[in-house]
Amino acid sequence: MKYGYFDDVNREYVIDRPDTPTPWVNYLGSPEYGAIISNNAGGYSFAKSGANGRILRYVFNNFDQPGRYIYLRDDDNQDFWSASWQPVGKDLKDYISKCHHGLGYTKMVADYAGIHSEATYYVPKGKSYEVWAIEVTNTSDKERHLTLTGYAEFTNHSNYEQDQVNLQYSLFISRTAFQENRIVQQIHGNLNALEEDEQVDEKNVTERFFGLAGNPVSSFCGDKKAFLGRYNGYDKPLGVTSGDLGDTNNYNENPCGALASKVTLAPNESKTLVFLLGEKYSNEAQAIVDSYKDAKTTVQAEVDELRAEWGGRLESLQVKTPSPVFDTMINTWNAYNCYMTFIWSRAASLIYCGLRNGYGYRDTVQDIQGIIHLAPEMAVDKIRFMLSAQVDNGGGLPLVKFTHNPGHVDTPDDASYVQETGHPAYRADDALWLFPTVYKYIAETGNTAFLDEVIPYANKGEATVYDHLKAAIQFSMDNLGPHGMPAGLHADWNDCLRLGAQGESSFVALQYYYALSILKIFAKQKADTEYMTFLDSEQESMGEKIQELCWDDDRFVRGYTEAGERIGEACAPEANMWLNPQSWAVISGLADDRQAELAMDNVFNRLNTSYGAILMDPPYHKHAFDGALAVIYNQGNKENAGIFSQSQGWLILAEALRGKGERAFTYFMENAPAAQNDQADIRQLEPYCYGQFTEGPASPNHGHSHVHWLTGTASTVMVGCVEGILGLRPDLDGLKLAPAIPKDWDSFKMDKNFRGKELHITVENPNHKESGFSKLILNGQELPEAYLPEDLLLDQNEITLVL
Ligand code: NOJ
Repeated sequence: MKYGYFDDVNREYVIDRPDTPTPWVNYLGSPEYGAIISNNAGGYSFAKSGANGRILRYVFNNFDQPGRYIYLRDDDNQDFWSASWQPVGKDLKDYISKCHHGLGYTKMVADYAGIHSEATYYVPKGKSYEVWAIEVTNTSDKERHLTLTGYAEFTNHSNYEQDQVNLQYSLFISRTAFQENRIVQQIHGNLNALEEDEQVDEKNVTERFFGLAGNPVSSFCGDKKAFLGRYNGYDKPLGVTSGDLGDTNNYNENPCGALASKVTLAPNESKTLVFLLGEKYSNEAQAIVDSYKDAKTTVQAEVDELRAEWGGRLESLQVKTPSPVFDTMINTWNAYNCYMTFIWSRAASLIYCGLRNGYGYRDTVQDIQGIIHLAPEMAVDKIRFMLSAQVDNGGGLPLVKFTHNPGHVDTPDDASYVQETGHPAYRADDALWLFPTVYKYIAETGNTAFLDEVIPYANKGEATVYDHLKAAIQFSMDNLGPHGMPAGLHADWNDCLRLGAQGESSFVALQYYYALSILKIFAKQKADTEYMTFLDSEQESMGEKIQELCWDDDRFVRGYTEAGERIGEACAPEANMWLNPQSWAVISGLADDRQAELAMDNVFNRLNTSYGAILMDPPYHKHAFDGALAVIYNQGNKENAGIFSQSQGWLILAEALRGKGERAFTYFMENAPAAQNDQADIRQLEPYCYGQFTEGPASPNHGHSHVHWLTGTASTVMVGCVEGILGLRPDLDGLKLAPAIPKDWDSFKMDKNFRGKELHITVENPNHKESGFSKLILNGQELPEAYLPEDLLLDQNEITLVL
């Protein structure tokens, strides 16, 4: 079943069947003022924090109400509908709708009863309020008399939990007033006698507004119960059915912003109205509403500005391959998803309610990787920030608070940190993610001077980036288990593997091995010869240990428990085959060719499904060891043998590094949202963004995906595709080209910006290979290997690679 299609020219996903299996959403605005909007106008808005700055109320868990509703009423016959299919939900035989989710805006187009409407929702660039602009056109042949009503349901408290559950308090602090063309909601309005900056119990007056520009307000309502009527839902509000909002204000209980406006339209005539919502005091709110007097022109200019901004952010890499799915993901939707994880971390979605008060270390350091090839300067600011969240013992802060104050924060060694964040100890992997991320940034830009930049540690002191990386190595060396491999500590990448200080993780050992390779490149660059010698011998001895302790005939095991049991041995009754140690044995460079082939074939045969590879098999049930927390999940879900999609990106990369283009592309297609556009009833999530996991074959809902948008999958798959399948692998001096593609691709093209130079690359595949090199021509000159040295590049470059 399919609910929409990709419009690649406009970079939109267009939903033409509004009864999607789950709310399919888009992100508007920025963390300054954020808004999430579903294809039925559900969702919420907030200032700065999804949990503590909540402006619009929303009921989580797929209920998808309330929302940013615009009702239309025909005053001649009292029929009414909404600009989005829901909440009124007209019969889809009569109501034609298209929801266009674009980059930074969403537009709902509807045709019903001879009225065409286009409602465009967005947060203007750099602004901290939102716009709901509706243009209505009379497509019938008679004059029409309409009432248009906008409805916004304010929270009673900026903290969404207080709003929902502490009713003995929150129902008695809010009230509304009507001023000229807007409803003003005040929370703690009784504190208005305070001097500016004075507070009571850390509270002062919070003020929100819901205003109308482009047409006069005919009636208003500030009270939810009065708007809906006692037993009505959002589908049949009294204020809409009666055609008059009654000019009611609110004092106690539940406020809202509802504004009605009368419009008369001759045949073919159009009219634009703009509803405006935000958290601003009166003068500023008034100025905002006034600035939309020329409604249509202002809205068009602002939407164009957003489209230009987003288009610009994607330009640095554009591809044209034989696969439309691959192109739409890489050129637009995976890239947009990467920006969203980069910007929003795990803060706000329809699954994350906004309660997380910080950045997860490993998540954020990995999220950065997804945009390095598009916006390296944006990336490096976040890299600096994350380095400043590394403790001086080399470990990463498991959670970096949004209030992070480098050089002065508490750490997992302090009870205060543990109490506030709920993270009881260091994780084994956090700081090791810095290595690929810092390397990718330096290789993309050539900015080796970054290694010498001095950045504070989280708790005290400061060091160069190079020394931060050395400290990360030291952290692993200081936390070894009894066999001499890195200890699992509170967790490694897998939150559900609590291996402890005496247990050991092969995944971390492989990350560590890889980190040593990267640090060797930096040490060479810095001519740090003594340290290079150390790194060589450390890597050799760790490599030997991993081989001896973790190779088990045709697979790498997952590690050791504190009791000394090997996790993931072939003979174990449960969880005897794991995904990540196989892909990481390849990515890290540890596996020899024979091991890589055996291990990766084993993955393909044992773990792969038509929706991606499961994390391990069989799921835990009766034989989970103490730290195998995955057993708490239903089998086939999450870490208990679900398809944890983030790992699919590493799988794509690992196969591509081996030159196995067919497999790499198969793994890409299995889990690519766009590839499942026609199977939306199975996948359920938006076909244009990744989910955290897909239910595996051990579940009765195999293929059902969950936890939309904010997932490390966006960046791992992007890296798997860009470095792996497309084979764009920068290093300190230039760019290696090593595509790994399906054999039946005849050719493909890439336009890439590399260090300010434009590369127009054509890859030809006359002999239908999946990887390899026979010729490279740069601006008419043949080069000896598949490598573009930076110093040969011109401003514009025509490049042909023949496989
Ligand atoms: C979710 C976290 O966000 C991710 O970083 C983690 O590694 C996975 N859980 C796997 O447990």
